[in-house]
Amino acid sequence: MTGSAEHRHVVFTPSGRRGSVPTGTTVLAAARELGVDLDSVCGGRGICGHCQVVPAAGSFAKWAIESTVDALRAPGSAESAARPAREVTAGARLGCLAAIQHDVVIDVPAASQVHRPVVRKAIALDDLVIDPLVTLAYVELRPAEMDGTSLVTAIRAALAAQHGIDVGAVDTGALAGLHRTFAGEPRGGTVVLRRTTDPLPRLVTSVPGFTDHAYGAAIDIGSTTIAGHLVDLTTGAVLASAGRMNPQIRFGEDLMSRVSYVMMNPGGDTDLTVAVRTALDELLVELCGSAGVAATELFDIVLVGNPIMHHLVLGIDPTPLGSAPFELATDEAVATTATALDLGFRNASVYVGPCIAGHVGADTAAAMLAEGPYRSDHPQLLVDIGTNAEIVLGSTTAVWAASSPTGPAFEGAQISSGQRATAGAIERVRIDRDTLAPSVKIIGDEAWTDDTAGSRRGPTVTGVCGSGIIEAIAELFLAGVIAADGTIRGEVAARTDRVVADGRTFSYRLFASGPTQLFVTQNDVRAIQLAKAALRAGIDLLLEHAGLDVITDIRLAGAFGAHIDPLYAMVLGLVPDCPLDGVRGVGNAAGAGAVRALVSASQRTEMEAAVRRVRKVETAIEPRFQELFVAAMAFPHTTASVAHLSQLVDLPARPSSANSARRRRRTPSTTEETS
Ligand code: FES
Repeated sequence: MTGSAEHRHVVFTPSGRRGSVPTGTTVLAAARELGVDLDSVCGGRGICGHCQVVPAAGSFAKWAIESTVDALRAPGSAESAARPAREVTAGARLGCLAAIQHDVVIDVPAASQVHRPVVRKAIALDDLVIDPLVTLAYVELRPAEMDGTSLVTAIRAALAAQHGIDVGAVDTGALAGLHRTFAGEPRGGTVVLRRTTDPLPRLVTSVPGFTDHAYGAAIDIGSTTIAGHLVDLTTGAVLASAGRMNPQIRFGEDLMSRVSYVMMNPGGDTDLTVAVRTALDELLVELCGSAGVAATELFDIVLVGNPIMHHLVLGIDPTPLGSAPFELATDEAVATTATALDLGFRNASVYVGPCIAGHVGADTAAAMLAEGPYRSDHPQLLVDIGTNAEIVLGSTTAVWAASSPTGPAFEGAQISSGQRATAGAIERVRIDRDTLAPSVKIIGDEAWTDDTAGSRRGPTVTGVCGSGIIEAIAELFLAGVIAADGTIRGEVAARTDRVVADGRTFSYRLFASGPTQLFVTQNDVRAIQLAKAALRAGIDLLLEHAGLDVITDIRLAGAFGAHIDPLYAMVLGLVPDCPLDGVRGVGNAAGAGAVRALVSASQRTEMEAAVRRVRKVETAIEPRFQELFVAAMAFPHTTASVAHLSQLVDLPARPSSANSARRRRRTPSTTEETS
């Protein structure tokens, strides 16, 4: 295949798009003509360096092309003199200035593609391809003339001529800054375009001069912590991550106490809104500061959070979420601006993810996007354990979601020696089966130790975090100190002085050294039992709705899920019995989902569609929930199978009443006892 003297054949890889163009056409113009994904911010002025391409050398029989590096005309003075913002790599040419003079195969490297795969994986972003909502376009305008042409009209014409872009609406907020942007000489400025549901991109803001910097932030607003990532929107790279306490804690430790505060204090919702927005603004400032990003370069923010955080950050009274029927003001995604939320980032748009139900928020929607139960051929159970546990179960066939009121015990609250997972907290526990003596691992100290070790290095032991209390109780159960019904067995005191009377119950001395006296008390065990029974009942309820007996893909999201040992989760019966490698922590899935939504329009669409498919299960009004809750109080469970677990550990024999208990099963259409 040989092009005529006037036309040349050109093939772009990796897309395989090809066609013929007049000799002398620039590579960028050819790419636009043929619909090739080749980036350009400066509109072909040799300023940005985003259009780099590599002419291939070799014989391409498939396309009948003998391609050489000479197929592109030798760099002229403009290309030789160009010093673009993005450095030109060896062997590459600037596509906007390199002209095609022979048939050629041209490779477009990933870095020059707008829709490029994300490479860096600070968080789990497998398979994520950038599908930008925000694009930048540098335009230069002719000097203004007395011909009645408005600035917007001049910009529209320049975008069409210099970038081949037709722009739709111009945001009111953008109008105020346009004259300032194009006040210089030459009249050059970078306009920020945003894809929306409108057929054409909107012009949302502008920046004087040339810039190819576009950044965004993805924030998960939790009731305890607010955590976020700063992301380069052009590469998907996570440049900075940070978190801080949610200052709303001073209005109430948990969500419902904050709703109570609003109910009892006129204007209380405003207090909570101001608190969370202030913290959000501070977090964004911190993220930009640590990444060296100017506030004006932040163009997009994605927020996810539970329904009450969702409402409060948007300035919506959350009290309807405090009682039945838990009606959301909206379950749709919300598009707004940082300015509207009192955030000091005037160029940033804000996307607040969709909620699922009154107790299941945009954070769960984002976690679903990250882990994709709705994309899975086999059933997947996704559990995010915090003060509430959000539970999603499903596959490509159907998806169910529920929230279960676990309370804060798993986070170390309501536990006599509980504390957050910081240095000095016991995070791992083993109990010797013969001596019933403990050994523990402390955050900040790699070595296992105990309270008989005398002087030891490392941080002072200060308490037990969530994973530590789970392991302590599970190990005490396996060692026979705690019975299946959760009772700390007083008769064991005859074997070890670590079991001590505590009023009418008993406690186990886990760590005693000087002023540090850490016990596992009967109340601690009860608190964990109640929390785990609520979680497990929610899971079992969804399994019943789905008509499933077994689940072999269990994903534990969030900080707690990241630290809990799946074996001990199964010993306590937090999750159903299954092969151990079927249970795994997936980290901050909500944060990962928020980043996905930040850099990809198609991911936003996917999340919104997935949320619409979810079948909501309200644990508060399901009669079966109470029955399942009672059955889930025992360790690991009163009646459920422990077939896999019993192959891994020596489980104490179940009480005879449990052995004879009849197992209730329910299909999606019946509540009859079936066995
Ligand atoms: Fe900007 Fe080529 S398009 S340098």
